[in-house]
Amino acid sequence: MKDRKILLTEDEMPRQWYNILADIKLNPPLGPDGNPVKPEDLAPVFPMNLIEQEVSSERWIEIPEAVQSVYRIWRPSPLVRALSLEKALDTPARIYFKNESVSPPGSHKPNTAVPQAYYNKVAGMERMTTETGAGQWGCALSFACAQFGLECKVFMVRVSFDQKPYRKSMMEVWNGRCVASPSTETRAGREILAKFPDTPGSLGIAISEAIEAAVSDPSGKTRYSLGSVLNHVMLHQTIIGLEAKLQLAKVGDYPDVIIGCAGGGSNFAGLAFPFVLDKINGKAIEIYPVEPAACPTLTKAPFVYDHGDTAGYTPLLPMHSLGHSFMPPPLHAGGLRYHGMAPTVSQLVDEGLLTPKSVNQLESYAAGIILARSEGIIPAPETNHALATVIDEARKAKEEGREKVILFNWSGHGLLDLGAYEKFLAGQLSNFELPEGVIADSEKVFANYPKPAHLKRG
Ligand SMILES: Cc1ncc(COP(=O)(O)O)c(C=O)c1O
Repeated sequence: MKDRKILLTEDEMPRQWYNILADIKLNPPLGPDGNPVKPEDLAPVFPMNLIEQEVSSERWIEIPEAVQSVYRIWRPSPLVRALSLEKALDTPARIYFKNESVSPPGSHKPNTAVPQAYYNKVAGMERMTTETGAGQWGCALSFACAQFGLECKVFMVRVSFDQKPYRKSMMEVWNGRCVASPSTETRAGREILAKFPDTPGSLGIAISEAIEAAVSDPSGKTRYSLGSVLNHVMLHQTIIGLEAKLQLAKVGDYPDVIIGCAGGGSNFAGLAFPFVLDKINGKAIEIYPVEPAACPTLTKAPFVYDHGDTAGYTPLLPMHSLGHSFMPPPLHAGGLRYHGMAPTVSQLVDEGLLTPKSVNQLESYAAGIILARSEGIIPAPETNHALATVIDEARKAKEEGREKVILFNWSGHGLLDLGAYEKFLAGQLSNFELPEGVIADSEKVFANYPKPAHLKRG
């Protein structure tokens, strides 16, 4: 009988993260004066040890012992051969996934929450603030803060807060405090509420609130944490791809296609970046970040400089952006409702090393149901976007009669997303069409900003 799970022992878990900044060039983030941001400019927002990681170009960075110890609560995560899906699709493709849903909060997010909480603790911080879309990140940071004895405050995008009340309960069990965003607790929140009292909220607004809450704490013992987008977040997530490489080597396989859903880019990058290094060195691999058709950052928006948040508190980042005031439709995949994208992922798309795809809401849920009924795990709505593309690729392999190897990231489970599944099964979910002109309008915000250069490696 074939093994489903390919496991590593705790001793075999990688001891270093892979930093893609050793192998690609990025345009620098820009401050309000149009000049590159200096590390000390970021000090009110992040602790200096994380800022150093953000700008480091060391290829390999040690994972501290204390972080490895918490990782071992659920890591190494299993690499699973999706034998039942292969059978259901009658495909000659060999399909593997990293099961990141096995972490305590249920997603890949603690891979970076744990080191971020650790570095904040080492830097003498007592409190962290953050935003959350789907609620997975807020749970992950609450869990991580509990591990290191820090307080945690989470601004949760209103629409997800209403759709998923138990995410708030999970955060509270881990001692996190969660409020719906926009809230009346910050100036950014109050200004948005005055203009749009019924807004569903967005990640961009929640980020503004969380940054403001951190920098306005007079004790100086609070810092902000971002769950995606930034270089150090991508770095921490590479544990996923590094483990996957070791696991595939155990069964003598190597991927032809790599797939991950992309909101801010972190679970995708975590799986893909260690393989992007191989692609840079000549391996033939197709690598697909997958996003919702209703929030089409990589597939429809240009590579520009834009703010990471709605109020414009963050530096200008070089990324694909729909415009920092873009209000994504209230998709049931809160973690993918973001106007921007990680600068590293954006840079790789600009260089042609990644091929972005988009999927609509109904296709994504239909794929989630196929996976739940074959592999058994109920996927997070975000993960469903990757799954739709996996199924497409597996069907293509069948048409071509090719034994393609497909590797994807199962970024989280959907056990707290059952309201959306219930609606899908009752035929009450629909696709969101972005009305003509919406994207062009929302992109006006960056018309007068500087433009990033199209950099190449080497
Ligand atoms: C399960 C899951 N997958 C994917 C994402 C998207 O984020 P990222 O692109 O940073 O992985 C989220 C974000 O909340 C998530 O909860």
